[in-house]
Amino acid sequence: MSTHQRVALVTGGTGGIGTAICQQLIKTGLQVVAGYSHGGDSSYALTWQKEQADLGYEIGIVYGDVSNFESCTAMVDEIAAKFGAIDVLVNNAGITKDTMFKKMSVTDWQAVMRIDLDSVFNTTRQVINGMIDRNFGRIINISSINGQKGQFGQTNYSAAKAGMHGFTKALAQEVAAKGVTVNTISPGYVLTDMVKKVAADVMEKIIAQVPVGRLAEPNEIARVVTFLAAEEAGYITGANIAVNGGQHMY
Ligand code: CAA
Ligand code: NAP
Repeated sequence: MSTHQRVALVTGGTGGIGTAICQQLIKTGLQVVAGYSHGGDSSYALTWQKEQADLGYEIGIVYGDVSNFESCTAMVDEIAAKFGAIDVLVNNAGITKDTMFKKMSVTDWQAVMRIDLDSVFNTTRQVINGMIDRNFGRIINISSINGQKGQFGQTNYSAAKAGMHGFTKALAQEVAAKGVTVNTISPGYVLTDMVKKVAADVMEKIIAQVPVGRLAEPNEIARVVTFLAAEEAGYITGANIAVNGGQHMY
């Protein structure tokens, strides 16, 4: 058991699921830093940080556009200077650009591939050597049920999210002997800004397909992140953990 305070970076940390992840990781004793982009609007992130502090959660914030490698280098360098080396990386930032493939623009394809998939390279590549050197690391990739089963209107998102788990399985093999685990979590539908964009009639049909009969709470996803981030989770690697209310079983 290590005595120094582990440092976690949660990308998209100020978002719906990201906020719950930050809060729960703090409760397990980690120093937590939330990555944000928000068009570079630091006032948004500072307001979020103040709200969290008022709730008792002291969370660092750092700017980083996960679709840009150099921006991720700067983000990780800033965290190293202010908080120390990253022990736990949660690749949680993501977007949707839903439309039927026959109407999809190259811009909407590329935006999703860059933010949802290239991001995993851009962030993980910055931290992996340090984790290997220190013989400890936890990489947790937030994928989606729709990367597993596909979804009408989401060829870009389903491809990117499926790609995340391919990455997980390959990297898990490379770093397993070095105390570094790499896992995927595949949530079902969670009520955040991302899901609020889906038309109400479409959502009604989706909820009807969920045996649990409701959307997930962000905390129900965050619970699995803390489980995988724990020291005791060292034997779980290359896994893809579904948290989908029974909507997709395989
Ligand atoms: N299966 C089969 N056919 C479908 C369908 C489905 N699931 N959904 C729509 N269609 C059909 C419609 O019946 C319609 O048929 P007709 O032309 O014969 O009438 C045709 O496809 C076009 O449908 P729309 O008019 O609805 O098309 P649109 O362009 O307005 O909307 C869409 C397309 C935006 C992709 C919409 O279908 C949609 O929102 N789908 C849901 C996408 C979704 O689940 N996104 C999840 C976002 S949250 C997230 O991603 C988080 C996560 O990881 C879970
Ligand atoms: P959300 O509230 O919209 O959060 C998305 C986060 O991603 C935001 O905090 C956003 O930060 C960040 N982000 C977007 N583009 C970025 C960029 N270029 N650089 C850095 N950060 C960026 O949605 P959410 O539901 O919490 O989603 C979190 C993750 O869960 C996503 O990967 C999503 O695909 C996945 N997921 C969600 C659901 C669901 O039903 N909600 C289900 C399965 C999986 P800024 O605002 O600061 O840019």
